[in-house]
Amino acid sequence: MIVIKSEHEIELMRQAGKVCAEIFEGLNTIIKPGISTKDIDHYVESTCKKHNMIPAEKGYCGYPASACTSVNEEVVHGIPNAKRILRDGDIVSVDIVVENQGLMADACRTYGVGQISQEHQHLIDTAKEAFFAGLKECKAGNRLLQVSKSVQNKVEGEGFNVIRDYTGHGIGRDMHEDPPVFHYVPDSRYERVPNPRLQKGMALCVEPMICEGDWEVDVLLDDWTAVTCDGGWAAHYENTIIITDGEPEVITL
Ligand code: MF3
Ligand code: CO
Repeated sequence: MIVIKSEHEIELMRQAGKVCAEIFEGLNTIIKPGISTKDIDHYVESTCKKHNMIPAEKGYCGYPASACTSVNEEVVHGIPNAKRILRDGDIVSVDIVVENQGLMADACRTYGVGQISQEHQHLIDTAKEAFFAGLKECKAGNRLLQVSKSVQNKVEGEGFNVIRDYTGHGIGRDMHEDPPVFHYVPDSRYERVPNPRLQKGMALCVEPMICEGDWEVDVLLDDWTAVTCDGGWAAHYENTIIITDGEPEVITL
């Protein structure tokens, strides 16, 4: 069931989205060679608390931290660790969910650490551009798979692949609400995929996770960290979007 948000709920989500944006801004200067992924987690947690908001990932299905920090071939749900020191040339995706009085905003950015290769910068840029390609289709009356198709075309047009085992989602009082947001168009012979028309008051997370090589992933023995099977590196870019009768509103920028 897709939950339509009231103006009051959207306002609470907007405030959470502003804190997401502040965190990403701060991480721009914090992320450099020599810091650990646990340092990122501390900054996310303390910035949420400063604003009287909750880092909603902590405790979600037993998840142990306030952010997901996924390095290089890690795709999503990497667990922050004081021993995981970032090195020059690494890339790290930081995925956060901020909760404000029961309502949430969810976003992710991938950062280069120090000097990164042109190929990895292209990967990071493409994840972001794919989000904005999808955003163009986030209009009331459009069908959700138009968003999916537009994201996929951008990613594959740049020579990368879309991770298929994880999707975007609706968001609001729950971190993951209906509908699932695919970042590719599934083959309808094999998968049954909801394809609702978008309408005013829906809140969606569009979050392309993309990789250099094949899209198959494994989950490590920590039960969380998803890595590409072939070791190719991955990038992830996400924002929370409110559907309106006009242009979509992105609340986590
Ligand atoms: N923020 C992630 C998403 O984009 C979910 C993280 S799962 C958690 O949906 F357990 F870490 F919270
Ligand atoms: Co999300």
